[in-house]
Amino acid sequence: MNKSNTLTEKYEIKIIIQKETPENYPAIHEILCACFNRESEGNLVKALRVNDKAILSLVAMQNAEVVGHVMFTPVTTSPLFTATGLGLAPLAVKPEYQKQGIGAKLVEEGLRLCAELGCDYVVLLGNPKYYQRFGFRKASDFGMQNEYGVDEPFMLIKLTNCDLQNGLIKYCPEFSLFSL
Ligand SMILES: CC(C)(COP(=O)(O)OP(=O)(O)OC[C@H]1O[C@@H](n2cnc3c(N)ncnc32)[C@H](O)[C@@H]1OP(=O)(O)O)[C@@H](O)C(=O)NCCC(=O)NCCS
Repeated sequence: MNKSNTLTEKYEIKIIIQKETPENYPAIHEILCACFNRESEGNLVKALRVNDKAILSLVAMQNAEVVGHVMFTPVTTSPLFTATGLGLAPLAVKPEYQKQGIGAKLVEEGLRLCAELGCDYVVLLGNPKYYQRFGFRKASDFGMQNEYGVDEPFMLIKLTNCDLQNGLIKYCPEFSLFSL
């Protein structure tokens, strides 16, 4: 085997995206604490699970190691729309595994599964430079407002040809309990 093959084998990482299981919970909590330098996001994720709000919670696995996580929870609108939405939050990749496309894999597989679940749109609060590549646009382009007093960072992607009119989108109440 030549040197470049050996290097490729050594550094190429194979990532599998799958639904979280209870045995992943401690590793997910550790990743969230490491990524956000606080406990809030980890505690939020625990509360969302306990309250049955974790509609979709995925882990990125490298062999037996959890290296990333993303959660999707229901959002509500006022006025009430027939279209159903999910909020993507939080998304985290273990610091030493970042910038290798793992975050992108979690987002892409997450959106695919959200569409499979019949979800009409997904929203998130994040860096537009990162999330535009997946097709997210600022939610205000669709007439949708948010509770955070921001414009560009509150983003939305339609997964169906749903009708969105002017309205306010709200995450689950758990999000306001953890001072995020
Ligand atoms: C945001 C976050 C989840 C992104 O995860 P990630 O796995 O690093 O994301 P990706 O690898 O898909 O993309 C990150 C960057 O790496 C680049 N990249 C992707 N694959 C790459 C590769 N194979 N080689 C080099 N760079 C690569 C991407 O182009 C992107 O660059 P850019 O944003 O500067 O244009 C991660 O940085 C994180 O956990 N941050 C802390 C928590 C956080 O802020 N979460 C988001 C708010 S909830």
